[in-house]
Amino acid sequence: MDTRPDQRLDAGEMHTRPDQRLDAGEMHTRPDQRMGAGEMHTRPDQRLDAGEMDAGDGLSAFRSRFHFPKAGNGAEAVYLVGHSLGLQPIAARGYVERELDDWRRLGVEGHFGGDNPWMPYHEALADPLARLAGALPGEVVAMNTLTVNLHLMMVSFYRPTPVRYRILVEGAAFPSDQYAVASQAAWHGYDPDESVIELRPREGEETIRTEDVEDLLEREGETIALVFLGGVNYLTGQAFDMERITAAGHRQGCVVGFDLAHAMGNVVLRMHDWDVDFAVWCSYKYLNGGPGCVGGCFVHERHGRRNDLPRFAGWWGHDKSTRFRMPSDFEAIPGAEGWQLSNPPILPLAALRASLELFDEAGMDRLRAKSKRLTGYLEHLLRTRFPDELSITSPADPEQRGCQLSLRTGPEGRRVHRYLSEHGIWCDWREPDVIRVAPVPLYNRFADVRRFVEVMAEGMERAG
Ligand SMILES: Cc1ncc(COP(=O)(O)O)c(C=O)c1O
Repeated sequence: MDTRPDQRLDAGEMHTRPDQRLDAGEMHTRPDQRMGAGEMHTRPDQRLDAGEMDAGDGLSAFRSRFHFPKAGNGAEAVYLVGHSLGLQPIAARGYVERELDDWRRLGVEGHFGGDNPWMPYHEALADPLARLAGALPGEVVAMNTLTVNLHLMMVSFYRPTPVRYRILVEGAAFPSDQYAVASQAAWHGYDPDESVIELRPREGEETIRTEDVEDLLEREGETIALVFLGGVNYLTGQAFDMERITAAGHRQGCVVGFDLAHAMGNVVLRMHDWDVDFAVWCSYKYLNGGPGCVGGCFVHERHGRRNDLPRFAGWWGHDKSTRFRMPSDFEAIPGAEGWQLSNPPILPLAALRASLELFDEAGMDRLRAKSKRLTGYLEHLLRTRFPDELSITSPADPEQRGCQLSLRTGPEGRRVHRYLSEHGIWCDWREPDVIRVAPVPLYNRFADVRRFVEVMAEGMERAG
C-alpha cells in the first residue's frame, strides 16, 4: 500500500459513486449513545445521506467561492485541513490586485487616495473581526502575527509580583505559546519550570475539565498572575468554557487571556460579554487570510483607555490626529488600536478582507450550526465504522469542541495517513499518533466527510 497507491478510489469519482459499504441505514441500527440524534438534527428514522444533507445545506453555495487544490491524482482534494491553512477565497486575488493597482497608479498617494486608502485600511476589518470575536469594534485590531501579539499583550497584562507571578497554561498548548510564556517569565526573572503551571487532563482522560481549572484556580489562584489558554486546543480540538474560566480567574484576581488561533471563525465567541481581558489570533486557519497573514488582538474596553498599563509602543498606536506631526511623546489611541506598532501590510489585509466578507455573508451562527452537524456526522460515521480501532480524543459534547476531530490511531496511523494523502484526502498528522480532521462549514460538504471515512477504512484495512 505504501509503495503502490491505489488509484481506484478517485476523489471526484467517489462523489458520484456512492459506496455501499457505509450504509446510511446501518447507522441508525447501531446508534452511538454519545452522539444523539438531536445533535445531528435528524429524526432517528431519517436516513443520514451525505448527498441529501448537502442538498439541504443552505450554506453549500459558499464552497464555490473558494479555490481547491488538486491532489496528486489531478482530482480536487478533499480538503480537511482548514485548521492548518484555510483555502483561498476566489475574491482574494481581486482584492489584492486592487491594492497592487493602486500602488502602481498612485504610488505613495495610495495611502490617502484610491478606493481604499491604506492609512485607515485596517479599520475596515475591525467590524467583521469584532463580530467574529464577539467584541466591540474598538476592542479588536488586525496587526502583526499571533506570537508577536501574545508578547505585546504579556508586556501589558503579565505583571508579576513576588507573590503573584505564575502563569497557568494548558499542558498541550501550542509550542509557540509555551515558548512565549516561558520566555516572558524568565525575562521577568522567574524560573519557567516553577512559574509556568501546566493543566493536564485527569488520568485516563484526554481533555481538561472546566471544574479542574476552577479548582486549581481556587487553590493556587493567589499566586497566578495570568491564565492563558487556547480558546480551542490545537491538538485535541477542545473548546474551553471561556466564560467560566474567565470568571474563575477573575475571582482570584488573575488576568485572563486566550489564544484564539483555532477559535476565530470556528466557534461562536463573546469576548466582551465573557469579560476576557485580552486575546490574540492568527488569520490563516479558519479565517482564510492566507499563509502568514496578519493576526489580531482583542483588548477588553475596560483596559482600552488605561494609562497605567505599560506597553511596547510604536507610531501606529499613536493618536491618529497628531501622528503625522511626528511628536516625540507617545499618546495611545484608545482601544486595541493603541497596541499597534507599525503600519500594517496592506496586501495580506486585502486577502483577509475578502474572506471576512464571506463570514459576514454566511453569518457565524449559521456556520456554527452547520459545523455541529458536519462534525457530528463525521463522529457518527467514525464511531460506527471503527468502534474499537481508533479513539476520538476531541470532546464528545459538540459544545466543547469546534469543527476539528482528533483521532488517536494505532501504530499503523502514519501509514493510514499516507494512504489518505495518496488518495486525495488532506488531513494532518501530529506525532506520535494523531490524525486531525477539520470539516470546515464554509467549504466542506457532508460528502467530503463520508469520503474521508471510506478511504480511512480502506487505509486501516490495508495497514492493519
Ligand atoms: C494555537 C496556536 N498558537 C500559536 C500559533 C503560532 O502562530 P504564529 O506563527 O502566527 O505566531 C499557532 C500556529 O499554528 C497555533 O496553532
